[in-house]
Amino acid sequence: MSRTSSYTVDPARLDGVTQEPLFSAVAAEAALQGIAAFAIGGYVRDRLIGRPSKDIDLVVEGDGIAFAKAVAKRLNAGEVHVFKNFGTAMFMFDELQVEFVGARKESYSRDSRKPEVEPGTIKDDQERRDFTINALAISMNAGSLGALVDPFGGILDLDRGLLRTPLDPDITFSDDPLRMMRAVRFATQLGFVIDPPTFDAIKRNAKRLEIISAERIHTELNKIIATPRPSVGFILLRECGLLQEFFPEFVELSGAEEKHGIGHKDNFYHTLQVLDNVCEKSTDLWLRWGAILHDIAKPKTKRFEPGHGWTFHGHEDKGARMVPGIFRRLKLPLDDQMKFVQKLVALHLRPIALTKEEVTDSAVRRLLFDAGDDIDALMILCRADITSKNERKKDRYLRNYEVVIQKLKEVEEKDRVRNFQPPITGEDVMRAFGIPPCKLIGDIKTVIKDAILDGVIHNDRTEAWELMLETGRKLGAEPAPGMEDPLPTAQPI
Ligand code: CTP
Repeated sequence: MSRTSSYTVDPARLDGVTQEPLFSAVAAEAALQGIAAFAIGGYVRDRLIGRPSKDIDLVVEGDGIAFAKAVAKRLNAGEVHVFKNFGTAMFMFDELQVEFVGARKESYSRDSRKPEVEPGTIKDDQERRDFTINALAISMNAGSLGALVDPFGGILDLDRGLLRTPLDPDITFSDDPLRMMRAVRFATQLGFVIDPPTFDAIKRNAKRLEIISAERIHTELNKIIATPRPSVGFILLRECGLLQEFFPEFVELSGAEEKHGIGHKDNFYHTLQVLDNVCEKSTDLWLRWGAILHDIAKPKTKRFEPGHGWTFHGHEDKGARMVPGIFRRLKLPLDDQMKFVQKLVALHLRPIALTKEEVTDSAVRRLLFDAGDDIDALMILCRADITSKNERKKDRYLRNYEVVIQKLKEVEEKDRVRNFQPPITGEDVMRAFGIPPCKLIGDIKTVIKDAILDGVIHNDRTEAWELMLETGRKLGAEPAPGMEDPLPTAQPI
């Protein structure tokens, strides 16, 4: 894979850094205490390539917490938050999160992320970081003030767009296996290439991801999904074997089987195409998850039907039922976001299926009713799902899509079913027939809802009232006296 980064490195971006208020306070404090201090990591990397960052990490060869407090005092910054267990301290300055830590020599035990820590030099600290481009530091110290400290050739790697570990990659990844995910995340975010020896080490160590919590994994995964072209990351994740470790259902989408000369598309690449298409139209993470999962049940529903070819009947319902299990395993949020994704998966075939015959108002009303406020997201997914290589087919689908969009607008303006509120409530039915809560109420309400969605009556209280009386009578209930008309307070909505 070749590099596709749009960033260029410019060391001049570091000019004057130590005259800026935060860094000049750090430099002054370092001089006063006689302690070496450095800006390090993502901030230095991002500054060199002109990418904005929200946090700044500083390393001191000494007590990071005491140093942070002294700097915060100089700057009149707000409260200093101390994380004793990690030996770090943090405060906010100019909307930036500034974090201090003492330089450490660190080795992680093999079975957890719990490090065994002892004080170290800046070089010790740099070599235990994940990638050379993240190990760059800027000196805040007299004699080398503002100079780049780069023992592992990080600036060269940044310039050529290469992700490489400072140490033997087997050691770096065994210290923290999440770094393998981070390699793919940075490759996707920055358009960088993972150095082949580093990539081979990921292949060798992919199984070690098992000691990493689902939360940390999904945080990196969501960062990949939030990029403009997440397909790049997913292809890398599969290639190095990481995807299999936490998302085997996605890997199973791979491959295109052929029988009697009839093939089907490779649903792994199709899904990624849909995902990238969605990303062109929306930054909504959960809509993107909808794209990722829309065909997830295709492998489980795949059949070869002689005379028909390949079918995936019911993959939308089965897929929707698979969503909670996947969300639970990845520890993704199980409330509204999950329900939204489930709804997208369940409904993703409806807009286009609608056009197979004539697009009737009643089918459109039902779609609006089922999708509710998520109709716009569903239509983005549905449009993104038109990926056929057959241009004639694609044109036809796109024309159908436009017809549905137009119809959705017309029907919504006319019938307002997108946020359907029944014009007759259960209370109304009980009052009208003088009955207590019972099944009949639900039956009558369903008849009214269906009549509105099917266009038999308008979404109107007077018409609905009439239908309620008629349905009640048919089902053996007699209206209470004086209940022939909607009550005066109950105007048509
Ligand atoms: N780091 C590391 N190993 C990790 C996580 C972080 O070595 N598993 C180091 C890297 O030097 C990194 C720094 O800690 O630059 C800060 O980590 P973090 O804030 O997570 O990443 P950034 O590089 O700042 O990137 P981003 O803000 O995009 O997450």
